[in-house]
Amino acid sequence: MKHYDLRRALMIFSIFCVVFFIVLFWQQTSSSNDFTELLPINRRRSPLIKHEKKIYSPQWTWICENQRCERRQADSNNPANSLLTCSMLCGSTQLWPQPTGPVTLGSKTASFNHEQLHFEAKAKEPALRLLHEAISIFREKIVDLVQDVNYTKHETDIEKIVIVLSLTNSDHVKLILNTDESYQLNIKPIKNKISIHITAKNFFGVRHGLETLSQLIWWDEYSNGGILKILKTASVKDHPVFAYRGLMIDTARNYMSIDTLKRVIVGMSANKLNIFHWHITDSQSFPLVLPRLPKFAKMGSYAPDMIYTPKDVEELVLFALVRGIRVMIEIDTPAHAGNGWTWGPSEDMGELALCVNKRPWSSYCGEPPCGQLNPDNPKVYDVLEILYSDLLNLTKENELFHIGGDEVFLECWQDHLSTATLNKYTDLHDLWGDFTLKALDRLKKANGGKKIPYILIWSSNLTKRPYVNKYLNKSNIVVQSWGASQWPDTLDLIQDGYKVIISHVDAWYVDCGFGRWRETGDAACDPYRTWQTVYNHRPWTQQGMNKNQILGGEICLWSEQVDESSVDARLWPRAAAFAERVWSDPATDFTIEEDVYTRLNTQRGRLVKQGLHAEAMWPQWCLQNPGMCL
Ligand SMILES: *[C@@H]1O[C@H](CO)[C@@H](O)[C@H](O)[C@H]1NC(C)=O
Ligand SMILES: *[C@@H]1O[C@H](CO)[C@@H](O)[C@H](O)[C@H]1NC(C)=O
Ligand SMILES: *[C@@H]1O[C@H](CO)[C@@H](O)[C@H](O)[C@H]1NC(C)=O
Ligand SMILES: *[C@@H]1O[C@H](CO)[C@@H](O)[C@H](O)[C@H]1NC(C)=O
Repeated sequence: MKHYDLRRALMIFSIFCVVFFIVLFWQQTSSSNDFTELLPINRRRSPLIKHEKKIYSPQWTWICENQRCERRQADSNNPANSLLTCSMLCGSTQLWPQPTGPVTLGSKTASFNHEQLHFEAKAKEPALRLLHEAISIFREKIVDLVQDVNYTKHETDIEKIVIVLSLTNSDHVKLILNTDESYQLNIKPIKNKISIHITAKNFFGVRHGLETLSQLIWWDEYSNGGILKILKTASVKDHPVFAYRGLMIDTARNYMSIDTLKRVIVGMSANKLNIFHWHITDSQSFPLVLPRLPKFAKMGSYAPDMIYTPKDVEELVLFALVRGIRVMIEIDTPAHAGNGWTWGPSEDMGELALCVNKRPWSSYCGEPPCGQLNPDNPKVYDVLEILYSDLLNLTKENELFHIGGDEVFLECWQDHLSTATLNKYTDLHDLWGDFTLKALDRLKKANGGKKIPYILIWSSNLTKRPYVNKYLNKSNIVVQSWGASQWPDTLDLIQDGYKVIISHVDAWYVDCGFGRWRETGDAACDPYRTWQTVYNHRPWTQQGMNKNQILGGEICLWSEQVDESSVDARLWPRAAAFAERVWSDPATDFTIEEDVYTRLNTQRGRLVKQGLHAEAMWPQWCLQNPGMCL
């Protein structure tokens, strides 16, 4: 090619590129600020089968006897049958969380490979693009089961699997508490193929259906030299018992990267949890870069790379949305606010927070370092309004909003406020109440004057009688009740007509049980909450607890003693146990049935398969010999 031709080719190429990017840009900017327009996101480039085939002759085989898989020596009389294949077909379903509607599962299987999966999405925009994301997530999950790169050459029982996904409301692409998350799943064989229908009212139901379908598919390492298997017939009807199925992560005591938070979201979606409560700041650090108040992160993050940018947040919100989860960010105030809130004086705005890092800490706060907003400084409320408005804009979440509100230490205010202020109050709880009313007023302003339907606040002295009725309007304040389950708090709130979310510390605080991290004060909250404790907690069965006022539950992980290197094991499988409690709410006495052990163990295996370092539940011998350890 001559120089001239080359130049011309380059020129044409450049023009092409420019036009391409203009079109791309135009397409982006001409769209509304609806998040779904940004899809697709973070799709893995090419799903690769990572696993090598195992080469050994198996020593064990499992056969189903009296609805239980029994381990036997594999030999010529007893050909190898994997434990997973056995348990998928032996008595219990291996579904988690257990569906609440009728379930019928056939006992015949079909072998197939992932190239035989075909999807039909019966939906319109905007649900359609979410559905396409959910389909690609599903595909990747199935491909991840495969343990032999060459298995597509193996013989299969069928030619194809057709999965038809249909939903009635294509406009419902924002998860709200009223979202109908129910779905139906049907699998049946027709000649050489398997026909699967998932139907639901909206995208979120269909997504749950896909999640359930993925649990009816597994890798059978022995059949046909290694192959994917599916049940040939199944029918499942399912819907959750509670609308609010939350998981809280604290990223202030210790920072966790966005990739780690994505792993949390992946685990949540596998267990049909639907609210990611992100306790993003505390008195220790403020890692969130607020678009209009960047000084917070500048003064408050642990390091320049230990931050969450607006882009990070938007990305996580989308990542969660396509997995049926919404993100609710909490910036805790007036207590649990110190580092990060220190820039007031340099901007001529006075002290925004008091007692910051003050010692001895035990005189001013519940754990070091201290910090509590300055209710006397009017600028604090201006800052709160901007902060709230940035949060609403970042997450687009304006049905639920968490204002924090826990563990105010009145001594901090008592020792630092002017006598004039202190003289106005005989009881400083009233100052706390006034602060809260002003903050709520700014929240409403930040939301364009519109009332937010569910404003969450941690339980505290302010949510006790008589303060609660004086300061918190039950029409839209929801109390997240975290006291011990034996405390009267939750019942009192219910009886006073409040809606609540349950996070009882003695059942659903999974950070507890790792000893003390300081020499003064109690070891935070020993003992360890076992998965059985998490699972068995059913406070709504208590006399007088009106279940209609309980929006749901939330499992909490505070991060004083956990960061991204151990977060998986803290959460899983205990958060999965919690998920079944709030999705299915099975009746239980205090001995958990064998079936729950088996199913939870299978679910734990799925999480491990997806790269989550879930904790082991028991010795592998117990897993290999179902029922023998109970
Ligand atoms: C897969 O097949 C290719 C080509 O047939 C072969 O070279 C390769 O060794 C096989 N890989 C495994 C893990 O069996
Ligand atoms: C909301 O965020 C978008 C970017 O996501 C930004 O362009 C817009 O200015 C923000 N609006 C307000 C009111 O802050
Ligand atoms: C809550 O109120 C009780 C009774 O008024 C008081 O004894 C207790 O110290 C208060 N707790 C906090 C954390 O302020
Ligand atoms: C609570 O909110 C409702 C609905 O906005 C309103 O009608 C009522 O007056 C409020 N109650 C109080 C005590 O402010």
